[in-house]
Amino acid sequence: MEDLSVFTTVDSLQDWLNINRCDQKVSLVPTMGALHHGHIELVRSAFSHSKIVVVSIFVNPAQFNNEQDLNRYPRTLKQDAALLKTVGNVVIFAPTVGEIYPKEFTKIDLELGVLDKVMEGLYRPGHFKGVLNVVHRLFEIVKPDYGLFGVKDFQQLTVIKYMAQTLDVGVKIISCDTVREKSGLASSSRNNLLSVSDMQKASIIIDTLQFAKKIVSKFEPEQVIGLAKDHFSKGELKLEYLTIVNPKTLEELKYWVPGSRMCIAAYCSGVRLIDNIELLEDAEIS
Ligand code: PAJ
Repeated sequence: MEDLSVFTTVDSLQDWLNINRCDQKVSLVPTMGALHHGHIELVRSAFSHSKIVVVSIFVNPAQFNNEQDLNRYPRTLKQDAALLKTVGNVVIFAPTVGEIYPKEFTKIDLELGVLDKVMEGLYRPGHFKGVLNVVHRLFEIVKPDYGLFGVKDFQQLTVIKYMAQTLDVGVKIISCDTVREKSGLASSSRNNLLSVSDMQKASIIIDTLQFAKKIVSKFEPEQVIGLAKDHFSKGELKLEYLTIVNPKTLEELKYWVPGSRMCIAAYCSGVRLIDNIELLEDAEIS
């Protein structure tokens, strides 16, 4: 296979799309690079929806809360391209900051209400506004039929679905299940920062989520939260939050609703990990 096309400017990508798109569907998989098999599953899924798949690789300054984090974020374009090549003929869009945020760029200021005030929003103020703006801008540039996002970042997925619907962007949002390591730990570029023993310790996260799912039919949400916290405390991780939310509004639940979701954020040897699980399937309650 030839090397994949890598576009670094908006014009060059749009020129390519204008020539090659014809009447075909296009999928966009937005990423920040440092790709792992979680990302790769999104790309595979994209190919099941369309022949043309654009993967954007852009470390978005607007969604970082501090400069050190932004500067430390791994930039591994060559390896990313090599990994993507194993999946198929992907179009890579790896723009500079100036291409995404030109001088004439105007921010969208969508009121998110509760959506960015809870969970990640509490600990990372402004983060979701930054995510929304970059995703909206990427949608404007690529004009995809489908946008693919991982359930691993459940709050991000909810916020993006809300944006797509509220602003009527004409992109169908497709969610992809969380890809996990053998231990059950959700795949993440941050896992590279964990030692083998940290990885074992981190499995308390998925253990707790599965424990909660097992007991859900016997208790109210508040009781499940309490029992799950007790379970989690048998491990060695430092808990940041453990909650059960409405999957659309992200409000903490007093009563079960279809799709009720438990979300956890915790530190393992200083590395912040997040995960979530659907406790009640949509079809179970009607
Ligand atoms: P990034 O962290 O690179 O993730 C890109 C996409 O991969 C997101 O939709 C994320 O949910 C998904 N993903 C990550 N780990 C996954 C896993 N283990 N299983 C399934 N999907 C997984 O999320 C971002 O980048 C950025 O915020 C972005 C949306 C690109 C905007 O800048």
